[in-house]
Amino acid sequence: MATAIIRGLEDLRTTIAGWRRQGQRIALVPTMGALHEGHLSLMRLAAQHCDRVCASIFVNPTQFGPNEDFEAYPRDLDRDHALLEKEGVDLLYAPEAGDIYGEGFSTSVRVSGVSEGLCGGNRPGHFDGVALIVTKLLLRVLPDLAVFGEKDYQQLQVIRRLVRDLDIPVEILGGPTVREADGLALSSRNAYLDTAERAIAPALYRILSRYAEKLSAGAGADLDEARKELLDAGFDRVEYLEWRSSEGLHPPAPGREPGQIPGRLLAAAHLGRTRLIDNVPVIPRTDRG
Ligand code: PAJ
Repeated sequence: MATAIIRGLEDLRTTIAGWRRQGQRIALVPTMGALHEGHLSLMRLAAQHCDRVCASIFVNPTQFGPNEDFEAYPRDLDRDHALLEKEGVDLLYAPEAGDIYGEGFSTSVRVSGVSEGLCGGNRPGHFDGVALIVTKLLLRVLPDLAVFGEKDYQQLQVIRRLVRDLDIPVEILGGPTVREADGLALSSRNAYLDTAERAIAPALYRILSRYAEKLSAGAGADLDEARKELLDAGFDRVEYLEWRSSEGLHPPAPGREPGQIPGRLLAAAHLGRTRLIDNVPVIPRTDRG
């Protein structure tokens, strides 16, 4: 079956309403395009749970800071469409920017707590932009299920909180991070890396994994050392490298320390002009001792 491309809201609603009348379960997988195997894995996950899969592609201006890569962000709708067709995705919803943020648009959506610190601390307004576009996409498509990647772990938690707080009747499913053979998490921004930077990049996952292992074992770990290892490996700057609880992304505190409760080790680091993020689970070992 061909993947229909829909740009207008009325067409979208008509198509979705037709599926609903047939009693079909509908999944939404929001993206900004430049699709890779990570995105496609989410389409497959969505298809396992629903009768119809709708992918959206929209490079959302409100989640980019003034000095970020909104203009440079790769856009190739024909290529993305062909990839979605190969996956058997039913619908590609690709709205025009003017249709999403029309004249006089004045509403904001802010999720506090979980969106603060980590990426939120270094990209002011970023998660407000994400929360706003995801709210709009969910209300336009009204899917039963929406799928997001664990690659953007904080984003996933922000969306879970948002959906709970605003009573949006949708199930949120997280998909595991898809990686290159050397461990580098797939990202549209990997295309910005030159050969030398590409050789350094897998150190992010390697170092995170090693420290997560130490924390899981209850051995404790000095995260300053981990940050230093990233610089030694060739990263130009470590924006953050922190442990947080899996639920709520709380920092360490008595009763919620690394190794005591399920957590995550998350990092953002810069290689030249490219900012890479990654995260790994820190699962407490019950058989410690
Ligand atoms: P984008 O960066 O295009 O990512 C779309 C989805 O793919 C997100 O849920 C992201 O977590 C997931 N993803 C990216 N790389 C992945 C990988 N290597 N493995 C598994 N999943 C991966 O995230 C956004 O777009 C936007 O913020 C969006 C949610 C669409 C709102 O504009």
